[in-house]
Amino acid sequence: MTGARVLVVGGAGYIGTHMVLALLEAGHEVIVLDDLSQGNLDLLPGGDFIQGDLGDRGLLDGLFGRGRVDAVMHFAAHARVGESVGEPLKYWDNNVARTVALLSAMVRQGVGRFLFSSSAAVYGEPERVPIVESHPCRPTNPYGRTKRAVEELLAECDAAYGLRSMCLRYFNAAGADPAGRLGERHRPETHLIPLVLEAAGGRSGPVRIYGTTYPTPDGTCVRDFVHVSDLVQAHLLALEALLDGAPSAVYNLGSGRGRSVREVIALARRVTGRPIESVEAGPRPGDPAVLVAGSDRIRAELGWRPQWDDLEAILETAWAWQLKEASRPGRPGDGGGPGAG
Ligand code: UFG
Repeated sequence: MTGARVLVVGGAGYIGTHMVLALLEAGHEVIVLDDLSQGNLDLLPGGDFIQGDLGDRGLLDGLFGRGRVDAVMHFAAHARVGESVGEPLKYWDNNVARTVALLSAMVRQGVGRFLFSSSAAVYGEPERVPIVESHPCRPTNPYGRTKRAVEELLAECDAAYGLRSMCLRYFNAAGADPAGRLGERHRPETHLIPLVLEAAGGRSGPVRIYGTTYPTPDGTCVRDFVHVSDLVQAHLLALEALLDGAPSAVYNLGSGRGRSVREVIALARRVTGRPIESVEAGPRPGDPAVLVAGSDRIRAELGWRPQWDDLEAILETAWAWQLKEASRPGRPGDGGGPGAG
């Protein structure tokens, strides 16, 4: 289906910009709401842009009142596990209170379809891997608890108002648009793959390996990296399903393959052909040892078929983007706000 009118909240962020591009390429009409606290306007590929706060009731009512909106995709969140442990109020305010404001406006204005960027962090320390959607949710950090709280609220909104939603639980989003148009730009950067590649490019110091005594084969954390282009394709499928009348659902998005921090660094050395120095450091608060997804549900129900699901392709696209960013005028210290979204 083409021609839906979609509001993308947080559309100027890392996943949001890739989403906007995919929506436009699929023939949808896009409105972007972003406060630019973390996003980058120069990377926004198109759409009708509104700068503002999603907690602003007047702005939301005006926006929904201006014309039909078929669905809302919500990417605007703080997403750093470690930071959330030290600043829980910041996370509950931004990730939960502002989402309540957004959902309230949708209910007031009769907009009934919502796609939510949830996270593997809702599960906490897994009892079994791969983690499937029915696994108990016991988040181990405030970030994960805020994502879980919104998921629970969405189930209540479906029951009470008929607001249908898709909760997409991302594992570790990584990589960049394979055509080189977009990629990850966070300031400060905290995610493993971009930091490893910045170290490869000589733009940051040695990679710090957070924790070397986890109960994993090499003692470092194990994560499931999923390419951002595959993530956004999953959103397109979820959007189509909602537009076709599908009921609310929760889906994991991951590759099903775990890679340790040390493995990521070793493969990055191969992909970049650069020596990448690393140093061992203590564990980061709130980090579960292993997060690996079982994503069979979305494959079976929505026909999701990841195209870039090996770590090498993820690293190659991210490295190409980093080289492009490194040649951009104005780096470093280009003023993008703090953020991870
Ligand atoms: N890591 C390092 N050194 C670094 C950065 C990260 O060793 O410099 C390690 C982390 O400790 C972790 C792994 O690399 O074990 C991945 O860390 P990231 O920060 O890249 O990603 P997270 O796994 O913490 O976070 C990601 C998403 C979150 C999501 C979370 C699920 O960014 O949104 O997965 O826990 F919630």
